[in-house]
Amino acid sequence: MKTLIKNGTVVNATGTATADVLVDGETIAAVLAPGSTLLGFDLEANVDTVIDAAGKYVIPGGIDAHTHMELPFGGTAASDTFETGTRAAAWGGTTTIVDFAVQRYGERVQDGLAAWHEKAAGNCAIDYGFHQIIGGVDKDALAAMDGLVDEGITSFKLFMAYPGVFYSDDAQILRAMQKSADLGLLTMMHAENGPAIDVLVEQLVAEGKTDPYFHGVARAWQMEEEATHRAIMIANLTGAPLYIVHVSAKQAVAQIAAARDQGQNVFGETCPQYLYLSLEDQLGASSDEWGGFEGAKWVCSTPLRSREEGHQHHMWRSLRTNDIQMVSTDHCPFCMKGQKELGLGDFSKIPNGIGGVEHRMDLIYQGVVTGELTLERWVEVTSTTPARMFGMYGKKGVIQPGADADLVVYDPNGHTSIGVGKTHHMNMDHSAWEGFEIDGHVDTVLSRGRVIVDETGYVGRKGDGAFVKRGLSQYLI
Ligand code: URP
Ligand code: ZN
Ligand code: ZN
Repeated sequence: MKTLIKNGTVVNATGTATADVLVDGETIAAVLAPGSTLLGFDLEANVDTVIDAAGKYVIPGGIDAHTHMELPFGGTAASDTFETGTRAAAWGGTTTIVDFAVQRYGERVQDGLAAWHEKAAGNCAIDYGFHQIIGGVDKDALAAMDGLVDEGITSFKLFMAYPGVFYSDDAQILRAMQKSADLGLLTMMHAENGPAIDVLVEQLVAEGKTDPYFHGVARAWQMEEEATHRAIMIANLTGAPLYIVHVSAKQAVAQIAAARDQGQNVFGETCPQYLYLSLEDQLGASSDEWGGFEGAKWVCSTPLRSREEGHQHHMWRSLRTNDIQMVSTDHCPFCMKGQKELGLGDFSKIPNGIGGVEHRMDLIYQGVVTGELTLERWVEVTSTTPARMFGMYGKKGVIQPGADADLVVYDPNGHTSIGVGKTHHMNMDHSAWEGFEIDGHVDTVLSRGRVIVDETGYVGRKGDGAFVKRGLSQYLI
């Protein structure tokens, strides 16, 4: 099967050019000047499919390196399966996800990983890889980490938050980071001081401050800054490369930037919710005092931050200046009905998470529209850097001969209305992005050469997506 995408504006992180992209089977065969022939052959006459991308961008498929399909969490489980979640991702121009396999106290890492393979295999619309959550750092877990690289799992996540669930104390973090340094695995850190937050939660609830808004009050920026600093210091001591997930506080960004300025291998990821949404939005979610329960749809950790304090503006700037290197969604969807509702009358029981795997490419493209980011930077933070960070670059994250033909034709003159009943294919009864109007539209999506989204909608099949065995982070070699 050969496809020619002609006359598009091909955007890589390194530059932009009008070009034709020739796809042969699953890979990109050539990127040529528009209308080129190849060894005398008229390309258009010799391919199976021609896609006219004149006036549109052709970009490498999005890579969302932080998703939680089917995650058991907060007394329930994330509402997207690998089938529904990866299909929604495809709709939004994301062609690879990296999800988190889970190991908890008393469980074997190998069993957690096998369970995640079972959930995903044969169900995904797009390619997928895994990070490994180590929720119980003990002798066996540390030993099991030795086998992860061979499995194509080259990053693992620890939690300084959620005591009694995934939490690791400093001693456990130190041991795991020593392993990380030995093996070249990237340590991903949920950096919030969980034990201190739990005291604040208890005090707020005792005072009758039980609305979702108080989730963000309890998870104050000081708790994020302190944990980020502590993680950086332990990484510094052990030599472990460190990646801070879902950064929301500008003070945490400053910690990451300072460490990077000293030459330490520390990286930071943010998410669309921290660029757009705020604690004030939660407070104004309804006319009820403290915004009422409506704000539960935005309960996630790290939490939304105050707009008055300028975190969102600072985060856009950090993306531009590379103090923050990439954007993932932390897609962890829960319905209001039956799931978020578990926290009616006590915000600490609201399952933490926001669904957004479908909208990341569009939401970050708005940074191009408003002049926050260049086109190339848009591609870099949503595709190229995730590919490099997590050992997939060359195959993913770039439009070049030999790369997987994961491609998106994006129409800058199109329009996308986000909301339930409009653009919404995630398995949720609400959208955290309801009412967002986007300049731009995902027109066509190819996953390893197959068109999976076109003008008629989703045309792929469950099981099209394959497991990606990742290499070591390409920022560390
Ligand atoms: O609120 C969040 N972030 N839920 C998912 C779990 C995590 O900490 O990433
Ligand atoms: Zn986390
Ligand atoms: Zn997460």
